[in-house]
Amino acid sequence: MKLLIDDANIERIKHICEFYPIDGVTTNPSILAKEGRNPYLVLKEIREFIGPDAELHAQVISLTAEEMVKEGRHMVEILGEKAKTFIKIPTIPEGLKAMRMLSREGYKVTATAIYNPLQAYLAAKSGADYAAPYINRIDNLGSNGIQVARTMQDIFVSSGYKTRILAASFKNSLQVQELCESGIRAVTVAPDVIEGLIKHPCVDSADVTFVHDFENLCGEGKTMLNCEPNK
Ligand code: E4P
Repeated sequence: MKLLIDDANIERIKHICEFYPIDGVTTNPSILAKEGRNPYLVLKEIREFIGPDAELHAQVISLTAEEMVKEGRHMVEILGEKAKTFIKIPTIPEGLKAMRMLSREGYKVTATAIYNPLQAYLAAKSGADYAAPYINRIDNLGSNGIQVARTMQDIFVSSGYKTRILAASFKNSLQVQELCESGIRAVTVAPDVIEGLIKHPCVDSADVTFVHDFENLCGEGKTMLNCEPNK
């Protein structure tokens, strides 16, 4: 399962990439707005840092198909890396039309704002490379986000669509784990939730105990690097 960062803050992205195996970065207009700077400056900075092989997802703002297509082409022209720059398009009727047009032109498309499996079915038929269900937002509407993603996956597999799921909108580790178990192809997760994937008080205390026991044996500050008998 691919793991992407759902954020546009370059310092947080750098921090997460230093420690975690990351496949790319996703943004949306609200995430970019939080940075308070020109969106292209922010996106170009992210691309430069993650390199040409990582995925970068950025969303169109327009609400008509023709304008979405123009915007998508322009974004890729500015950001480059056509094979790794995904144009995020809301899965509304105008969006489906834009997805068909852009995918025919060889652009990578992420169908976003997916709340039910039939939106995903339509996005897949419209040529989207990824379909992004909003797990936590679906949960907050009284439905089950994980189940929606699983149903989407069943539709894609049974109909042979190449579209992959890029699950988005997470608030906790369990949501990520359940999708991992279900064989979902990609998730995009905010930095605090990524850090939560590995946090556990038992892991920390085991680590402290190991260091303590080893230092009792070999001396303070000693590791396997400097504990040979002749040192
Ligand atoms: C990604 O495509 C979505 O824009 C994002 O994950 C939404 O997350 P939120 O529900 O935490 O805002």
